[in-house]
Amino acid sequence: MRYKHEFNDAARKSVVILISGRGSNMQALLEAKLPCSRIAAVISNKADAQGLEIASRHGIATQVLSHRDYADRESFDTALATAIDSYQPDLVVLAGFMRILTQNFVAHYEGRLINIHPSLLPAYGGLNTHERALADGVKIHGCTVHFVTANLDHGPIIVQAAVPVLMDDTPETLAARVLHEEHRIYPQAVRWFCRDHLKLTPDGKVLLDRIEQPSAALIVPELE
Ligand code: GRF
Repeated sequence: MRYKHEFNDAARKSVVILISGRGSNMQALLEAKLPCSRIAAVISNKADAQGLEIASRHGIATQVLSHRDYADRESFDTALATAIDSYQPDLVVLAGFMRILTQNFVAHYEGRLINIHPSLLPAYGGLNTHERALADGVKIHGCTVHFVTANLDHGPIIVQAAVPVLMDDTPETLAARVLHEEHRIYPQAVRWFCRDHLKLTPDGKVLLDRIEQPSAALIVPELE
């Protein structure tokens, strides 16, 4: 992989990760040990999120901010932004953060808030993506990293990974195949951002300074 500019370690970017549960994407980011980024903190809206323990084991500061302690979405998001901003992050990464965010929150982090979604967006926004893909009989499914905008699960796309849907797949086997790719593409997206190879333009376009472009098609089932 070649980049136009070599990464300068002095310019390490600070990242805050938001989780609500298992935290496997967060773990993939921590274990990727990206030299271009420093994970400043992991914040969860749930005290029992498994990911909190994983973050602590990696020596990362953790914080719990329960949405139940706030009267409404707006006041929770205001408190959340205050908590995040105390770490002065360059990038905020949603990793299984199960809250719909207010317009004000999203606008505050425009161009520096990313999410991973378990489908090939714009197909299957929302929940139960694997069940819905199987019910529709699609042959190719996958995951998407995108910038977050006020339009839920429809922000500008950064990178996608496609996987075959196999004939005997269950939602669980398909989810596992997709998750494996999530753990590959999310660290890559963060790496691009932290190296300044990835930007969101003011008119909402993704600028990605990639040199290689793939040429192979994924055909499912395979041709004879
Ligand atoms: C992942 O499938 C992610 O795409 C979605 O929520 C799930 C979180 O899993 N946004 P984990 O907490 O990262 O293990």
